[in-house]
Amino acid sequence: SKAVKERGQAAVALAGGDTPRGLYILLSREPYVSAVSWKRILFFWGDERAVPPDNAQSNYRMAVDALLSRVPVQPENVFRIRAEAENLEAAASEYEELLRRTLPHSANGVPVFDIVLLGMGADGHTASLFPGSPALQERERFAVAVYVPQINQRRITLTYPVLNSARRLVFLVSGESKADALAKATAGPYNPENIPAQGIQTSSGDVLWLADADAGKLLLDRLPEKPA
Ligand code: 6PG
Repeated sequence: SKAVKERGQAAVALAGGDTPRGLYILLSREPYVSAVSWKRILFFWGDERAVPPDNAQSNYRMAVDALLSRVPVQPENVFRIRAEAENLEAAASEYEELLRRTLPHSANGVPVFDIVLLGMGADGHTASLFPGSPALQERERFAVAVYVPQINQRRITLTYPVLNSARRLVFLVSGESKADALAKATAGPYNPENIPAQGIQTSSGDVLWLADADAGKLLLDRLPEKPA
């Protein structure tokens, strides 16, 4: 809403996986659905699995089912990652070009999202930046194709340079299985090679962690007051 007021539009990178589904459905209902200028929001994805858009594994399909099919977005403002392409690297370059063309740029020429929504795996990965991945070292490209040996999957993911140039990054973390990674990511020694979520550091905005009590159970003794 702030971005739309100040710049006439807002660019959002959506997270995939299961956790955000509940948030997307919530946003499609009152009181939120009438609070958002849906026609002024540009939708992108932080990563995508190498599957067709109608596949149950598709992050695009999840977001369309849970949100984009339920609210009045402009179809031309929905920018899907074409990760079903045979040549995944070419599709990643195409998406990078789209980001350059569509988003405002920071002083050092990096496309700027207003909000990047991220999840985090139990191993500390975020988007499709997994522990030990060469993509963690990428400092030039904004989108790359990756092979993830841990799950034997190919994906396209945005990289730290463009993720970290966002005005706001929001992690949504839920469930006991994430407790160890959340404690390491937010309070452990800096080791982004092992906990890629730690590599999300923005100098130009802020990082907000939204976690439920199960995910935060190893951090509860650090909070000023115990949650209800
Ligand atoms: C994806 C996501 C990925 C996800 C984490 C957590 O494509 O899977 O981008 O980074 O956020 O794997 O997934 P869950 O929300 O399903 O636990």
